[in-house]
Amino acid sequence: MIRLGLVGLPARTGRTAVRTVLRIPRISSLRGYADSPFPINHKEAQKQRDIEKLPKWRQWALYFQSEKFKKSMTIYYICGFGATCVAFFYYMRDRYHEDKQIQHVRKKYKNDPKSLSEYEFLMLRKLSQETLRPLEEKKYRIYQMMRKEFRRKHLMDKSVMFNPTPEELEEWYSKQPRRTVKKAPVLDKPIGEKTAEEKEQEVLTNDKLTNAENPNIVPAEDTTEFYEEKAAAYDEEIKWEERGMFLGKRRKWLMKQLKGDVLEVACGTGRNIPYFYPELVNSITFLDSSRNMVDLTQKKFRSAYPDFRKVGFTVGKAEELAQLASEGKEIKYDTVVEAFGLCAHEDPVKALKNMSSLLKPGGRIVLLEHGRGTWDFVNNHLDFRSERRMKTWACRWNLDIGELIDEAGLDITYEKRVHLGTTWMLVCKRPEDPLRSEEKSFMNKLWGRDPKPIQRE
Ligand SMILES: C[S@@+](CC[C@H](N)C(=O)[O-])C[C@H]1O[C@@H](n2cnc3c(N)ncnc32)[C@H](O)[C@@H]1O
Repeated sequence: MIRLGLVGLPARTGRTAVRTVLRIPRISSLRGYADSPFPINHKEAQKQRDIEKLPKWRQWALYFQSEKFKKSMTIYYICGFGATCVAFFYYMRDRYHEDKQIQHVRKKYKNDPKSLSEYEFLMLRKLSQETLRPLEEKKYRIYQMMRKEFRRKHLMDKSVMFNPTPEELEEWYSKQPRRTVKKAPVLDKPIGEKTAEEKEQEVLTNDKLTNAENPNIVPAEDTTEFYEEKAAAYDEEIKWEERGMFLGKRRKWLMKQLKGDVLEVACGTGRNIPYFYPELVNSITFLDSSRNMVDLTQKKFRSAYPDFRKVGFTVGKAEELAQLASEGKEIKYDTVVEAFGLCAHEDPVKALKNMSSLLKPGGRIVLLEHGRGTWDFVNNHLDFRSERRMKTWACRWNLDIGELIDEAGLDITYEKRVHLGTTWMLVCKRPEDPLRSEEKSFMNKLWGRDPKPIQRE
């Protein structure tokens, strides 16, 4: 049978005819080998081999400069645009549902504040820009995680509202993979107060929540003697750790918050003195339980500010502060400040309560502390090294600082966490003191009004 090629001629004859018309030379005659359906371009192949020898990043760089990439740009743009549209749709859908729920909760609150569920109550407070307590913040974050999953499941159903009970949240959270602590905080009971059954359950699952129950937090002890011996070498040994973490910037923030009469608790060797602003302060008292530490602070302060007269240096424990103050005349402060001290106290909650009792009306406690971080992997590391840290620095670096503030009954007016959440920058006040104008939210400042707390009762 004769195969037909182009324009109905037999195959060979057809190809030859086209070549003749277009004046294309035979490939075999150019290369000197037989006709091949896949001719090898040796130059191209060599170039390809050279490229393959380059490091990966150079190969990608060459690809991005190539014609091939430029030609496929349109398709990449279309794909990118498509992906953005999908993400935007999901985001807007979420905002829409959230807005619907906000309207619903506001109506409920207006009619009967008691009818609000725990989630609705937290949500309304968050929306009113109230600062949630650290445990409430933690729980609200878990509610939000559950809400995202809920919305995914009810993609098109606008009518259902997300409103789980704390028990439903607990059950959902306990099933989440990759979480070491699977218990959400319980807000309605005082912190630390648990039924025998719950305690037993915790021992079984090893899900410890509070500082007191976490077996990885080493027991508190009086660290005065340790720091008495450490004082001389302290600055030299800690300086590289602090430089590596750029702590100078954080200390500067701390010292900018000082106002009026100031008490610095656990002053150590006076590492905050280089960032001291004498123009902000009327008087300052340095306190530490270690005499050697206080002596070093005194030396540093005198050489840096020889003309600053209203300064005092006291040896004493933060846990005995109120007692120390009442021995003399009634002493109160505008600002009580502490840096990296709570981790070294025997009873940090008592120390905080004492600091609060020494505040003048409207006074603030300013803290720069280190403790548990935002991520499980960080906390696991802190827990793992906690004993060693206690031995080398007499410091319990895996305490939950937020929980200490809660237990001391203080309100937080400013909170920032850095270094994966392990460095806590906090400004606290007594609950009965009003917010200062600069601490109010933008809207409240704009309308010159005081925030009205959201209450269920
Ligand atoms: C880690 S050092 C921090 C020192 C300093 N604030 C700084 O930022 O470098 C802890 C300090 O707390 C002091 N300290 C420990 N327990 C204390 C207590 N119960 N009352 C007062 N100071 C205490 C120690 O003597 C030590 O100087």
